[in-house]
Amino acid sequence: MTPLEHAQRNMQAELEGVAGHEAASHYTYFVVAIEDLTELRRLERVRRDFIANISHELRTPLASVRLLAETLEEAIDTDRDKAQMFLEKIENEVQHLNGLVSELLELSRIESGLVPMVIEPVQAEHLVREVMARMLPQAQRHRIMLHTEIEEGNVLVVADSKQIARVLVNLIHNAIKYTPSGGTVTIGTALQAGGQVQRFFVRDTGVGIRPEELPRIFERFYKADRARSKTDFIGPGGGGSGLGLAIARHVVEAHGGRITAESRVGYGSTFTFTLPVAQRGNT
Ligand SMILES: Nc1ncnc2c1ncn2[C@@H]1O[C@H](COP(=O)(O)OP(=O)(O)OP(=O)(O)O)[C@@H](O)[C@H]1O
Ligand SMILES: [Mg+2]
Repeated sequence: MTPLEHAQRNMQAELEGVAGHEAASHYTYFVVAIEDLTELRRLERVRRDFIANISHELRTPLASVRLLAETLEEAIDTDRDKAQMFLEKIENEVQHLNGLVSELLELSRIESGLVPMVIEPVQAEHLVREVMARMLPQAQRHRIMLHTEIEEGNVLVVADSKQIARVLVNLIHNAIKYTPSGGTVTIGTALQAGGQVQRFFVRDTGVGIRPEELPRIFERFYKADRARSKTDFIGPGGGGSGLGLAIARHVVEAHGGRITAESRVGYGSTFTFTLPVAQRGNT
């Protein structure tokens, strides 16, 4: 960054100055220290937002559990069926809370480097097919077709296969979640950068993401356009916690890769991430 660019950006700073006079030389001097606090303030804001978000995410299901429990109490002696229904609802909310807390823990473990990476050469195609097989029942349940587009087989990437599998699972899960029944999700790989980088992509024919929301979806807790995902979308419930993509981004970046998203509202979205190629296997 050149000094000019630095001066042009909005900076939060702490200013400290002293002035003095040196009698012998008749010089008056000023010493000014400027400490750039922009990054510090940004981190404080991120932390504040994070805590506010967690509190909100925990409070909403907790409030429903409380209400449901109250209603259950009223119905328990008079209406067994109604009581059973409320019990199931409570169970759902608790499951959601449980999932949220596990995701939060996982994200914080990944961020603080507590999850050791087991990096080894992994066959990209194998990884894709394994995850596909795992996601197939979910896709079938929601009447979504799963396709693969493997441009070149037998490419080895340098990766922790478990963690990359989780990234693919998160992306495919989203693709299924935000694609109405009858749609298609394509999982593919292609080489780029002269064969040094393997690109993975998950493309769907779903609802898409608005351009102004696209830059924010990798943030923790960010959920785009809740209203649309709840009404138009036919899938396994719109209500996630908004952590899946944040986890995906951390994992990919820890591998030295990049993750990006492109989308057109009403046509679908494509999520792409890259991993370094280990070596080309022999066929
Ligand atoms: N394939 C997709 N199509 C349309 N919107 C998407 C897609 N993937 C992600 N999004 C949008 O990005 C937001 C963030 O995604 P993310 O996976 O982080 O959270 P989530 O799916 O809501 O919850 P979680 O993954 O924690 O259960 C989603 O809420 C959704 O609005
Ligand atoms: Mg998700």
